[in-house]
Amino acid sequence: MSLSFLRKREAVAFDIGSNSIKLVQMNQTKKGWELMKMGMAELPPEAIVDGSIIDSMTVTNTLRDLVKEHGVKVKDAVSSLTGHSVIIKKVSFPAMTEDELADSIQWEAEQYIPFPISDVNIDFQILGADTDGRGQMDVMLVAVKKDVINDYTNVIKEAGLNPVVIDVDSFALENMMEINYPVTPGENIAMVNIGASITSISVVMGGLTIFTRSIPMGGNQFTEELQRQLNVSFKDAEDMKLHRKESDSDAEQLASSIDSVSTNLTFEVKRSLDFFLGGAQGSYVSKIYLSGGGSKVTGLQNLMQEKTSIPVELANPFKGIDASSRHFDKDRLKEAAPFFGVAVGLATRRFADR
Ligand SMILES: Nc1ncnc2c1ncn2[C@@H]1O[C@H](COP(=O)(O)OP(=O)(O)OP(=O)(O)O)[C@@H](O)[C@H]1O
Ligand SMILES: [Mg+2]
Repeated sequence: MSLSFLRKREAVAFDIGSNSIKLVQMNQTKKGWELMKMGMAELPPEAIVDGSIIDSMTVTNTLRDLVKEHGVKVKDAVSSLTGHSVIIKKVSFPAMTEDELADSIQWEAEQYIPFPISDVNIDFQILGADTDGRGQMDVMLVAVKKDVINDYTNVIKEAGLNPVVIDVDSFALENMMEINYPVTPGENIAMVNIGASITSISVVMGGLTIFTRSIPMGGNQFTEELQRQLNVSFKDAEDMKLHRKESDSDAEQLASSIDSVSTNLTFEVKRSLDFFLGGAQGSYVSKIYLSGGGSKVTGLQNLMQEKTSIPVELANPFKGIDASSRHFDKDRLKEAAPFFGVAVGLATRRFADR
């Protein structure tokens, strides 16, 4: 059913990461998606730690400044979470309709959630109806801790915005892929989003996420390894990693630190994919799409391809989006693309006017 008489409300998307907040606003036209606004602002390392907002004032102010800087007029805001406050599990439930499941989800989900059911918000997606005739169906169960949702909605409210949805990073990435890359029926595509503190891995089949896992590793591990090896501050190590500060004498150490952390990270990604494949007999992953700032690490893409024997490509969230009307600089878009996967996916969400 399409309620086309309802005007779809525009929303502005914020990917609130531990390293930076990304803002995207897009317009949906008959021809497709059009990029209206994009921006990014760094956060200090102690503002968000392990997916929890520690310094809400700084996050609020950064959000507010971003909105101001980019002249965003829309108030409805979409954002997302990732990491250990989010639990996503594929489970098997008795076959029933979506409405029936919506009514009984609290009961059905309880045994799968390691927190009291009253502490989480639950959502689900039915992956496939009763295919083998045994009266069961596969469901992707999503549970997000309420206190963490509250922390995120509060900073958004404090910044003068109206939080309408808190999504999950991997589902945002699924939406980003959907508008930029053709869906390949029957093929498993992996998405690996390497942030600063969290790497999320998911497998999408025919446009639906069928597996997801997050590991507490990302760009920070490279910085921390350098910090240890060279006995410098986090800030100095980060500057070296990003080549903001050149020092020939440390070039070798930089390369070897990057290499060892890349190897660890690749190993973790491979382990997750092997785990997925172990539970999906006869299946394979045909491609890995990388996103997140951590995917910019030199050599990581090749290393992952080599170690997993799966083709690895950088996902470009702006591939299918018209960025011409607002004169976004092509080089700037290319440079920024890895950071904007989640934000672009979030920006595709539309809401019926109330
Ligand atoms: N050119 C580069 N080379 C290597 N690493 C980079 C580069 N540019 C950015 N990074 C790293 O990418 C990370 C930031 O990526 P991203 O913006 O995706 O993270 P985030 O969304 O803020 O964090 P998270 O999702 O983990 O909370 C940082 O660790 C940063 O150092
Ligand atoms: Mg992120």
